[in-house]
Formats: sequence, C-alpha cells, structure tokens
Amino acid sequence: MDKAKMVIDRDFKIGRIGKNMYGSFVENLGRCIYGGIYEPGHPNADSRGFRRDVLEVIKELKVPIIRYPGGNFVSTYRWEDGIGPLKDRPARLDLAWKSIEPNTFGLNECMDWARAADIDIMMTLNVSTRGILDTQNMVEYCNFPGGTYWSDLRKSHGYKEPHNIKSWCLGNEPDGDWQVAQKTPMEYARIAREHAKVLKLMDPDYEVTVSGSSLRRLKTFPEWDSTVLEEAYNYVDNVSIHCYYGNKSGDTPNFLGKTFEMQDFISSAIAACDYVKIKLRSPKKLCLSIDEWNVWYHTHDDDRHKDPWKSAPHLLEEDYTFEDAVMVGCMLITLLKNCDRVKQSCFSELVNAISPIMTENGGSVWRQTTFYPLMHASHYGHGYALIPAVHSPKYDSTEFNDVPYLESVAVWDDETDEMVIFAVNRSLDEALDLECDLRGFGDYRVKEHIVYESGDKLARNTKDNPFFIVPHNRGNASVDGDKVQAALPALSWNVIRLNKKEK
Ligand code: AHR
Repeated sequence: MDKAKMVIDRDFKIGRIGKNMYGSFVENLGRCIYGGIYEPGHPNADSRGFRRDVLEVIKELKVPIIRYPGGNFVSTYRWEDGIGPLKDRPARLDLAWKSIEPNTFGLNECMDWARAADIDIMMTLNVSTRGILDTQNMVEYCNFPGGTYWSDLRKSHGYKEPHNIKSWCLGNEPDGDWQVAQKTPMEYARIAREHAKVLKLMDPDYEVTVSGSSLRRLKTFPEWDSTVLEEAYNYVDNVSIHCYYGNKSGDTPNFLGKTFEMQDFISSAIAACDYVKIKLRSPKKLCLSIDEWNVWYHTHDDDRHKDPWKSAPHLLEEDYTFEDAVMVGCMLITLLKNCDRVKQSCFSELVNAISPIMTENGGSVWRQTTFYPLMHASHYGHGYALIPAVHSPKYDSTEFNDVPYLESVAVWDDETDEMVIFAVNRSLDEALDLECDLRGFGDYRVKEHIVYESGDKLARNTKDNPFFIVPHNRGNASVDGDKVQAALPALSWNVIRLNKKEK
C-alpha cells in the first residue's frame, strides 16, 4: 500500500471558513424551479406549491445562502414580471435557455421559499439589459419599510415586512459571448460601479459581488479583472469567478487533477484583487465569491437548441457518477485550502439542472453521488482550515505533473474542538495508507471515519435505485498517541472526525 503523511498543527491556520462557504444556486433553468423546488399539484406540495419532499432533502445539505435567479437567465429578466397576482403575470421568452418563463415563481415566492428553507438569498441583478433605476426600484421594493411607491407596492402584494436581502450580485458572466448584452471590460466596469454605488447608497452594509472573469480561456482574461476592479473597487466586497470541470475524454486521473486549474484560477483572481488594492492604495481587501462551481460535462448548454420554447424543459440534467463525486470532494478541499480569501461559494445548481438533487415531475426525489461530499462538508467543515503539510506519492497525467494521490485538508472547529480531516485518494487502484501527525493536539480519539467508495467509478444513483452508492462509516481510522492512521480505499472520499477524549 502506498503511504502518505500529513502534519496538522492547530496554530497553522489558513483562515476562518466563511458562513456562506457551502452555498448553492437556483436559476430559472430547466426544472430547477418548476418541477424542482416548486410544483403546485404535486402530492407533496404545500399550499404555496413548494415541494416538501424536495425541501427536506435540501435541508440535509444545510445550505446557508442561495444565488437567484441566474445565471444566464438574469440577463433578460424583468423582475417586475414575477410580482403581484399570478393571473396578471406575463409569460416571456427566456433567450438564455430558449424556454418559456411562466413567471409564476418570482421574487416573493423565492423569499417565501427561502424562509421556509431557512436560507439567505444573494439576489443577482440584471445589469446587462436593465438600468440603474431598475436596480434602485427593485431594492426599494424588496427592502424599504414603506411609504414609497415600490415599498407600498410590496405591501399591497401581502408583504408588510421588508425582505431584508443583504447580498447582491452585479449580473452574470458579462464577459461571455453566450451572454445576452455581452460587455467589454470597460463597459461592464462602469455599469457595475454605478449599480454598486446605488446599492451602497441604499445601505452601505449590503454585500456586493462584482463579476470577475467567468472563464480563463476568454480573450479578456485576465485584464477583465483589473479593469473592472479599478473602476468598482470602492463599491464592492467580493469578486466572483465560476469553476466547472469535466471528464469528456474519460481520462479519470487527468480529470481529478483539474483542481490544479481551479487553484490557478483562484490565485489569479486574488492576484488581480491585490494588484488593484495596491494600485489604489486602498486599505480594503476584496474576497472571492465562487458563486458557480461544479462538475459539468455530461450535458451542454447547446442542448437548449434541441427542443426549444418549452416551459421547464429537461435541460442540463447531469447524471452524476461516482468519480464525479470524488472530483466534487477534491474541489471542496481546494475551496477550503483558500478559505482566507474565498469567503463564499455556491454549488451550481441545487435541483435537477447540474444538481446533486433530482426529481421526477409528480414523483420522487433522490440524491445524486455528488450530494454526499457536499453534505459532509457543510455539516463538518466549520471553524478554521489548517495549512495541510502533506507528503504524498504523485503521478503525471495528460495535462498535469506531480498530482498528489492524497488531496486533503484538516479543519478545526474552535467551538466544538472537533478536528476533521477531509481526504481524497485519487488512485484508481491502490489504497493509500495515511499517517497524520496531530502536532500540538493530543488527547483526540476517532469519532467516526466516513468513507465514500465504489468498485465502479461510473456507478450512479438513479430514480429506481436511489441509494445504490451511499457513504458508510466503517473506515478504519485509529489514533495512537498523537498519530492518526487510516487506510483510504482506492478512489475514495473520506471524512475522519476526531474529538477530545473524555477526561
Ligand atoms: O449554471 C448554468 C449556467 O452556467 C449559468 O446560467 C451560467 O452562469 C453558467 O455559464
């Protein structure tokens, strides 16, 4: 068995993990909303049309925040279409997904649903095809207590209390040629700055996220980031990037190495923030919001052309495999290793479209393979991420050299004093013998060693076999003195939970 070592020291902190690290994303896309979280007439729907069975599964993920309503959808969205009596709401063409948007689920339904789910909303504004006044009106409708046109309109719609939305996102992927009203860096920079100014005038405590480069392969990368930030720096708090990786070629070792690309993308966005900070002589430090990230390759956004202009079509319904779940684990560890600057992330998306949760219209709900690493991280990944001093055997893949078989990070929760090691063994055929030196900690015992493994890297959970591969807690981690020993099975995701021995 190959051997890997890790040293964990409570004094070597990367940073505190932000409360919104394990967020998600709900877009008017395919069946994410209609047939996903909202399906009036479904046997499990409540009086508002919210599917209770889906909500229960979402609650298992303990999602703190959701980005809504897009995504590409937002770039032609008129928020006013989704307020007021249902009978008066217009159906509209949605060019992003070549669908028909019925607008029966809008802003107030979203806020009702979020309250039922106990989740905050990060509202994405359409800064592509709407103006600054539309943003002002929307914020006034959502958050102003009353006595003005838009706040009184909200009250007349049955919402006496303001929604109190605190987090706002300035558009979506405006650098992409797939976006309606794509912008040049300077066009977006000026627009973003002025929308952000309005938000901060309404309330300086609003958290504002500006769009950084959405993909590294775009011509405008990396100048986009510095141009946008030089204009908008003083009015924004976070810069967003989006990270999607896939395994179209079926080359699993290379696929699992794509966290190298993710790390480079994160590092370049941080470098842009810090370059502009220095250039502007600003004391303020910006953070990253990776407000879309996932594995995505079984489907493609061009699928929207196949059967266009339907409501709630079956779009981007990725059928995730076991190796996809392992990659999600590697990506979670990468986020945690950058938690000093990545303050927020949104797993994209929540239900049906590139999602860990799937539903059948009128039928059941099930958890895809990718559900489990997300659930473990959001349950156990709190407190401080610790600098991972790792010695692991390595391999070269098609695109990457020196990929460590062991991908891992330790997290120490200062409230519960629990220590958690998240670890992936990237090897397809060899178990890895892990030894962790708990330097500076003593007195810990293994509370649980959760293992997610499968003999078949392409195994999936399906409607008919929803629990085909689930994690177990029969891992063999043990503590001897201040050393933790554990065998990490080939191609596996592991969560080793340690707590203090009772005196
Ligand atoms: O999540 C699906 C799409 O991916 C989003 O709408 C867009 O922002 C990204 O390209």
